[in-house]
Amino acid sequence: MPKREEAKPAKKEGSVDTLPQESESQVVPADGSSSSKKTTRRRFIKAILTVAALATLGGYALSRYISTRGAGPSLARQLVMVDDSSPYGTAAGRKVNVSDLTTFPPNSHWVITYPSSGDSKVDAQAVDTFRKFELIRLPVELGGDKPAASSFVAFSKLCVHLECSPNYNPTQNVNPTENGYESGPGYTTHQNFECPCHGTTYRIPDGLAVDGPASRQPPPTNAVPMLTLSADDQGYLRVEPPIWDVNHNGKLGYGRYVSA
Ligand code: FES
Repeated sequence: MPKREEAKPAKKEGSVDTLPQESESQVVPADGSSSSKKTTRRRFIKAILTVAALATLGGYALSRYISTRGAGPSLARQLVMVDDSSPYGTAAGRKVNVSDLTTFPPNSHWVITYPSSGDSKVDAQAVDTFRKFELIRLPVELGGDKPAASSFVAFSKLCVHLECSPNYNPTQNVNPTENGYESGPGYTTHQNFECPCHGTTYRIPDGLAVDGPASRQPPPTNAVPMLTLSADDQGYLRVEPPIWDVNHNGKLGYGRYVSA
């Protein structure tokens, strides 16, 4: 049976046709939205996503910048270079070679900077004691004449008592007025790492406090942090990347566990 055609309402004379004539894109669908609205929304979402991505990248770059600034140079393996300071004579500014017993003789000491700026003159001017270490070539009786990394130790220059700077100075005269440098019964040499402020004495080679106030502190606050040293295949001394906790290289200004 043929379909009955529905009668269209008669167009009033003079009325305006409200439906657009041009394109399908402008046809208003049943849900009330339009393609142009969708396009606008898509563009809006795209813009939001782009802004979010740029903000994320910017934030990441900023955080990297800030963290790099805070941490200084990265803690990497590094060749040991003596601070370029006149008291160190021919060793000043030099890379340390374990086979060179003339420039770096047993029972001697120098200050090194870790992390280093890469320029020993700049390092010598750095005053941040958290980056300063006393490099000691051990006395012969402790194996300091061996062409090996084990002939050296590198102690933090921050005392674990109240953060003064201890020194290794075995050749100095006895100074009874300066804490830490006094002589005593059986105490005829200075082959220790000694703090001038209150007299803490750290023994070599393990850095345990054996006299003075830090020796009365409980572990791990009774031993000075130290660097781990190794030598490359040409004999140049280097610092292994430290682990700054009390079970490894220690916490600077705080302490380190020393195994019995
Ligand atoms: S700060 Fe070194 S002994 Fe007090």
